[in-house]
Amino acid sequence: MTKASIVARRAETVATVNRRLFGAFVEHLARCVYTGIYEPEHPTANDDGFRLDVVELVKELGTTTIRYPGGNFVSGFRWEDSVGPREKRPVRRDLAWHSLETNQVGVDEFARWLALTDSELMMAVNLGTRGIEEALDLLEYCNHPSGTALSDQRIANGTTEPHGIRMWCLGNEMDGPWQTGYRSAEDYGALAARTAQAMKAADNDLQLVVCGSSGSGMPTFGDWERTVLEHTYEHVDFISCHAYYQERGGDLGSFLASSLDMQYFIDTVVATVDHVGRKLRSSKQIQLSFDEWNIWYLDEHKASDEVNEEWQIAPRQLEDTYSVADAVVLGNLLITLLKNHARVRSASLAQLVNVIAPIRTEPGGDAWRQTTFFPFSVTSRLARGTVIAPRIDAPTYATAVHGEASLVDSVVTHDDDSVAVFLVNRSLTEPVDLTIDLTEFQVTSLTEALTLHDDDVYAKNTIDDQERVSLKALHGAELVDGVVTLRLPPVSWSAVAAHRES
Ligand code: AHR
Repeated sequence: MTKASIVARRAETVATVNRRLFGAFVEHLARCVYTGIYEPEHPTANDDGFRLDVVELVKELGTTTIRYPGGNFVSGFRWEDSVGPREKRPVRRDLAWHSLETNQVGVDEFARWLALTDSELMMAVNLGTRGIEEALDLLEYCNHPSGTALSDQRIANGTTEPHGIRMWCLGNEMDGPWQTGYRSAEDYGALAARTAQAMKAADNDLQLVVCGSSGSGMPTFGDWERTVLEHTYEHVDFISCHAYYQERGGDLGSFLASSLDMQYFIDTVVATVDHVGRKLRSSKQIQLSFDEWNIWYLDEHKASDEVNEEWQIAPRQLEDTYSVADAVVLGNLLITLLKNHARVRSASLAQLVNVIAPIRTEPGGDAWRQTTFFPFSVTSRLARGTVIAPRIDAPTYATAVHGEASLVDSVVTHDDDSVAVFLVNRSLTEPVDLTIDLTEFQVTSLTEALTLHDDDVYAKNTIDDQERVSLKALHGAELVDGVVTLRLPPVSWSAVAAHRES
């Protein structure tokens, strides 16, 4: 039997949990907005046309800050098209996804949807086809109280109170040749710095996110961050990171260790950011916004013919159906984000509905939870207070892509009267008998012990079998004298919560 142990000590404190780590992303892409969150003809739609069955699932998922409206879409977006009377809004071509955008949902409607889900808006400006003036106009429209041309336009459009958006992304993936209007690091850095300065002249309390690399595999990775920050360091607050993972060539062992790449990504960006900060003798520290992360079977999408050539409205694109193994990796990525929470202060699961998403819908029909829904919703619900990176003593295994990887990964959070432990077992075949030393926290009872595991690691929830995969009780978990003992099934994600009587 494989054995492992975990020890959680207050001395290994990482950071205080910021709810922004549980953000997500809604892009005007395929069926994320149209027939995803918005479908006026749906039986559950409210007066704004938003599906309330989806709202309920989003609340259960526990997402917080939602990045909007793109993604690649934002680099061709004219925000003015998406406000005012709906019947007057133009239909435009979206070059990023080769579809038609009807603009029936815009910033004012989206803010109303966010209120239904108790979420915060994180807005991206277009620095692909547009520039400083349009960014300032959007900021004025959204955030200025009244008495100016654009704030009065918002009021005339029916939104009396300003949206009060604090977090703004300065474009999207500007290092990617696929991006409409992509630029060199020098060009983008100069434009982002001027845009940031102007936006902060309007409101110095904004928190601005400058574009980092679209992935750790980009040829410019590292150099891009350095150059962009040399221009923008004193004007921005976050730099973005984007990472997507998938199983390749049947190598499940490497896929299950994907979080090692995320760790490499974070370590490299932190080193680069701090190098620039020191070089500039700045007293400021730039944080990381991991504002796109998920599992995405991108290779398969590229090889398929699903990208239509006919300019459709809300075509079916990127509707990945996730397996148990995908959910285990997603849960592990979330563990990694928490372990790095000292510097990763914001993150957005990409995306929220239908498009590489934890929630799926059918037009006129059901909404259901994908496998990946479960580790996200439980972590968002249980992670409270302070993050601890525990000491993990576990056997390792060899991966073709990431070298040696621990069979077990874990992170711990605690507040005054509760402790939560999040766990993965990456073994393809072996259960792991685990002890978790929580003696420092004087917990007196286990309140939850849940696992996501299935004998078929490729089991999925589908429209015809929407509850094929769900959380199960982790039988046999026990707490004795502050030490939890339990058995982690192979290829599993688990969570344990304990309570302290005061
Ligand atoms: O999330 C899907 C796409 O992935 C986004 O539009 C883009 O930013 C990234 O390449």
